[in-house]
Amino acid sequence: MSRIAYVNGRYVRHADAAVHIEDRGYQFADGVYEVCEVKDGSLIDMTRHLDRLDRSLNELEIAQPMGRRALVAVMREVIRQNRVKNGMIYLQVTRGVAPRDHVFPAATVPPSLVITSRAADPRKAARTAEDGVAVITLPDNRWERVDIKSVSLLPNVIAKEKARRAGAKEAWLVDADGYVTEGASTNAWIVTAEGSLVTRPAEHGILRGITRAAVLDLAAREGLTVEERPFTVEEAYRAREAFITAATTLVMPVVRIDDHAIGNGQPGSIATALRTRFHEVVERVG
Ligand code: PDD
Repeated sequence: MSRIAYVNGRYVRHADAAVHIEDRGYQFADGVYEVCEVKDGSLIDMTRHLDRLDRSLNELEIAQPMGRRALVAVMREVIRQNRVKNGMIYLQVTRGVAPRDHVFPAATVPPSLVITSRAADPRKAARTAEDGVAVITLPDNRWERVDIKSVSLLPNVIAKEKARRAGAKEAWLVDADGYVTEGASTNAWIVTAEGSLVTRPAEHGILRGITRAAVLDLAAREGLTVEERPFTVEEAYRAREAFITAATTLVMPVVRIDDHAIGNGQPGSIATALRTRFHEVVERVG
């Protein structure tokens, strides 16, 4: 069965799917995106993801490509046509196609909308979670507006490649004061010796992760203590546990940061429990 993509109003073979060379996403990274988990055929936390998409579009003054009901219908159709039961759906909106010029094109230029979906084997992710992952730390050299989920991801791409070359799965980015901001494509968490969850507040320096929000909900339900405050790399080295969150990784235990084993070098019990119970607090659509 061939994969299908939605591109500007049409369902096309994934292998043939293309946007124009003067799409502003291609030329200027002038666009935003979302990644949503698909589990047992349902969209996970779709409302929060689409709310964040609206916010990203508004912040950049990019028009909505279509109303929410229509958008959800297209998302479901892409999942259906690709027969994805478990995996992810990717949505990208750019400022559209116009002759190359840095300033925004006329308001009559419609935004471009691309939606794809891909299956992923949950058993493979479960095996990775049983071992835990390694992360490295790198200076955070991104722009100020990382709260916008922009497709302009060059610093993230470079950080991720450096992590891969170092045998790690993720790079934790560190601000000028030595505090961890977040991962290149995940939010960062530690667990203190006393068992408190610590994650950077979402006001500044990070993307407001939807998985992060769900884990905060779950922590509240489980009666866990949460400290939304910045933490340093040194504190992370000494943490009892560490983990990352994203729609693609869910709760993924971290067992090594740079050359330091975290805790006993095995996935922590709190991270593992949060991963196991994660889907008990999320919204399921479809
Ligand atoms: N990344 N921080 C960054 C920089 C991210 O790119 C992401 C998501 C997150 C976690 O957000 P959420 O929990 O809403 O997925 C945090 C997606 C998955 C990606 O770029 O593939």
